[in-house]
Amino acid sequence: MFQYHCLNPIANVGLELFSQEYQKTDDIKEAQAVLVRSAAMHEMELPDNLYAIARAGAGVNNIPLEKCAQQGIVVFNTPGANANGVKELVFAGMLLASRDITGGINWVLENTENENISKDAEKAKNAFAGCEIARKKLGVIGLGAIGVRVANAATHLGMEVYGYDPFISVNAAWSLSRSVKHINNLEEIYRECDYITIHVPLVEDTKKMLNKEAFAQMKDGVVILNFARALLADDEDILAAIEEGKIKKYVTDFPTSVLAGKENCIVIPHLGASTEESEDNCAMMAVEEVRDYLENGNIRNSVNFPRCDMGVCSGAGRVAILHKNVKGIIGKYTAVMGENNINISDMTNKSRGDFAYSLLDIDSPVTEAAIEQLKKIDSVLKVRVIK
Ligand SMILES: NC(=O)c1ccc[n+]([C@@H]2O[C@H](COP(=O)([O-])OP(=O)(O)OC[C@H]3O[C@@H](n4cnc5c(N)ncnc54)[C@H](O)[C@@H]3O)[C@@H](O)[C@H]2O)c1
Repeated sequence: MFQYHCLNPIANVGLELFSQEYQKTDDIKEAQAVLVRSAAMHEMELPDNLYAIARAGAGVNNIPLEKCAQQGIVVFNTPGANANGVKELVFAGMLLASRDITGGINWVLENTENENISKDAEKAKNAFAGCEIARKKLGVIGLGAIGVRVANAATHLGMEVYGYDPFISVNAAWSLSRSVKHINNLEEIYRECDYITIHVPLVEDTKKMLNKEAFAQMKDGVVILNFARALLADDEDILAAIEEGKIKKYVTDFPTSVLAGKENCIVIPHLGASTEESEDNCAMMAVEEVRDYLENGNIRNSVNFPRCDMGVCSGAGRVAILHKNVKGIIGKYTAVMGENNINISDMTNKSRGDFAYSLLDIDSPVTEAAIEQLKKIDSVLKVRVIK
């Protein structure tokens, strides 16, 4: 029996995927798995019996990844599960930036008592006119789960799409429409595009990458869309570029005190993934990842340990070893198995940065003594008998 703890409300369609072997607990100390959305975990004490944390969503800034890895806790996220929700809102942002739809709606609200509203609307509407997005150039920075969807959909709306991602994954490259022009340098995106949308992770290299040096290279009247993370843009530089007429509109999903209420800033209160479908998809994916890890030892979509998949164990037993990525460790744990007369029938060892993971399928059940020996090996973080 496994126990799981939810630090935030998690959609029921996800939790329903837990079998009868799983029980919900209100006490994190009892849990082998934690499901979380935005709860801050950096200051939390994490129990030794915790094996997995699954973030129902993409960003993991609220989770101490290194500390978890050191404790042998695998952290999962659900990349792509909310990508369609974000993609759709990006297009809403593009349209809101192109025509004064909000101004028009507000005019109607101000004229609810006006008996001549139909006639007056025809006179007033000129003030809210705008432009179409078809045939405009869209630059997409970051071609991952969201960026690829935005780029592909934009081609269907008649936009000329430029995509930039020096680290594009093979899967993303396969999914990208052939109509998207693959660009190798940001300068070309900045120089050519009427709309620029950013879909990269927030890391040291990308922090405030949308800054005055970037804006200086852009066309006058560019529209910038940021549905990725607030800190990818320098708010003060955004305001200055709006003031100069360089940026026509800045559309962001992240309210900050600097931008809220400012002219030509369209600020949305982080609604990108707030759709029933996104929340359901994230919850289902998080639960599936946790189950595959707890029941089979497989790691899919972890952010602090390598991917590893040996399917379902059909042998006498399976042992999972989370360890540091150091020389000679494979020899040490295989030697323990040999000393205990346990034959390894199949094994995988994968590493990622400073951490690594080994799954061993064995021909006879592992003994308590062998497990204790494995735990004592220097650099081993956690040992788990899966079967
Ligand atoms: N608004 C929301 O509610 C919401 C919801 C989900 C995700 N997000 C954010 O959207 C962003 C993208 O999410 P995703 O799911 O598409 O992520 P992803 O990991 O699938 O894709 C990110 C892509 O960015 C690329 N990249 C990394 N550094 C880059 C750089 N310097 N220049 C160009 N490309 C670079 C990577 O190669 C990758 O292909 C993330 O910041 C995420 O936190 C926001």
